[in-house]
Amino acid sequence: MASQAQTQVGIIGAGPAGLLLARLLRMHGIDSVILEQRDRAYVEGRVRAGVLEQGTASLLEEAGVAARLKREGLVHEGIEIVARDRHLRIDFRDLTGKAVVVYGQTEVTKDLIAARLAGDGPIVWNAADVAVHDIDGEQPTLTYRSDGRDHLLVCDFVAGCDGFHGVSRQSIPAQALQSFERVYPFGWLGILAEVPPCSHELIYARHERGFSLASMRSPTRSRYYIQCAVDEDLSAWPDARIWDELKLRLGPAAAAGMTTGPSIEKSVAPLRSFVAMPMRFGRLFLAGDAAHIVPPTGAKGLNLAASDVHYLSRALIAFYKKGQADALERYSESALARVWKAERFSWWMTTMLHKLHDESSFEAQMQLAELDYLASSRAAQTALAENYVGLPY
Ligand code: APR
Ligand code: PHB
Repeated sequence: MASQAQTQVGIIGAGPAGLLLARLLRMHGIDSVILEQRDRAYVEGRVRAGVLEQGTASLLEEAGVAARLKREGLVHEGIEIVARDRHLRIDFRDLTGKAVVVYGQTEVTKDLIAARLAGDGPIVWNAADVAVHDIDGEQPTLTYRSDGRDHLLVCDFVAGCDGFHGVSRQSIPAQALQSFERVYPFGWLGILAEVPPCSHELIYARHERGFSLASMRSPTRSRYYIQCAVDEDLSAWPDARIWDELKLRLGPAAAAGMTTGPSIEKSVAPLRSFVAMPMRFGRLFLAGDAAHIVPPTGAKGLNLAASDVHYLSRALIAFYKKGQADALERYSESALARVWKAERFSWWMTTMLHKLHDESSFEAQMQLAELDYLASSRAAQTALAENYVGLPY
C-alpha cells in the first residue's frame, strides 16, 4: 500500500531550477516537496558552467542564498573575443552599465541545497520511477519509489524541473507539444585544472582549428574548452596535448599567461539548441532544461533556468497569496519570450565562433566579416553585451 502525502507544489528535480523555485516559494510560506532521482553527492558533484547574469545573481540574493556568491563570486565587466590574432574586448560596463558574476553552478546548487536542508522542506533523494498523473485535472499526483516503498504525493501543481532527459516533458501528450531542435556537428572537450586562469576575463576564440574558451572558477581554478568531434575519444587527449591545443587556438598572448597542470576533470559535451512549447500543460509547469537547452557558447543555461523560475515563482505566489491565476495563465508565453531570445543569442555566438566549414569557404568569410563588423561597430558590441549580461525579465 503506497504511503500518501500532500503538498502545494510537487517539484521534480533538485537541479538549480527546482531548488531555486522551492526556496522562493518557501519564503512566501508555500510548501513543496522535491523528488530527485540521484543522491546528494551526485547532484553536488556535477561540473557545470558558471557565468551568472545580474538578474540571476539578484534572484539568488532575493532567495537569501547569495552570501558565498558575494564573497567568492568574480565580477566580470567584459569578455575578450579573439580571432586571427585580433583581440576585441567587449566592455559590458561601458556598453550596458552592467556586469556578470563568475561563480560555478556547482556552488549555486550547493548553496541552495544547504538552505533547503536547513529547514525549508524535504528533498527525497534517490526517488525512483517518478511518474506524473492527472496533470489535466484539479489535483495532479506524483508516484515514486523510495526506501523500497511506493509513495503517492497529492499536489495542487507540479513543477517539472527534471532536465532534458526527465519524465515531466514526456508526460505531456505528444500532440500538445511542439519542439524545435538543432544538434551541432561538434562537441566541447572541457577540462578543469587547479591552476590560475590565463586571463582575468573570459576569452572566446575563433580559430581555423576550431573554437576554444578560457574560463575560470576562482583565481586558482581554471576551466577551458576546445571544440572537438561529438564522439571525440578522450584517451587521445592527454593533458599535454590539450594545453598545446589551447595555446594554439587562444593565441600567443593567452599562451604567454597560461599556467598548465594536471586536469581534475575532463569530459566531452554535445552541443544542442532545443525548445519545447508550451511550457505548461494543465497543472504541470516546465522550467529549465526540462523545456529548453542552449549551446553553452552564450553562457545561458543556468540563467534561463533562473529566468523561468523568476516567472513561475511570481505566478504561484500571486495565485496562493492573492488568488490571481492570470500570471500562471501567461507563464509559458512570458518564459518563452525570453527563452527564444537567449536561444537566438546562443545560436549566433555558436555559429560565429565555431569551425563549421573549411576556412576557404564563403561561410568562413561570413564569420570573419561578422567579427570584423563587431570590432568596428559600437552598436554591434552593445547588442552582444546586452544579451550576454542578460535581457530584462
Ligand atoms: N525523477 C527525479 N529527478 C529527475 C528525473 C526523474 N525522472 N530526471 C532527472 N531528474 C533530476 C536530475 O537528476 C537533476 O538533478 O532533475 C535534475 C535536473 O537538473 P538540471 O539538469 O541541472 O536542470 P535544471 O535545474 O533545469 O538546470 C539547468 O543545468 O544542465 C545545466 O546548462 C544547464 O545550466 C543549466 C542548468
Ligand atoms: C564555464 O565557465 O564553464 C563557461 C563559461 C562561459 C561559457 C560556457 C562555459 O559560455
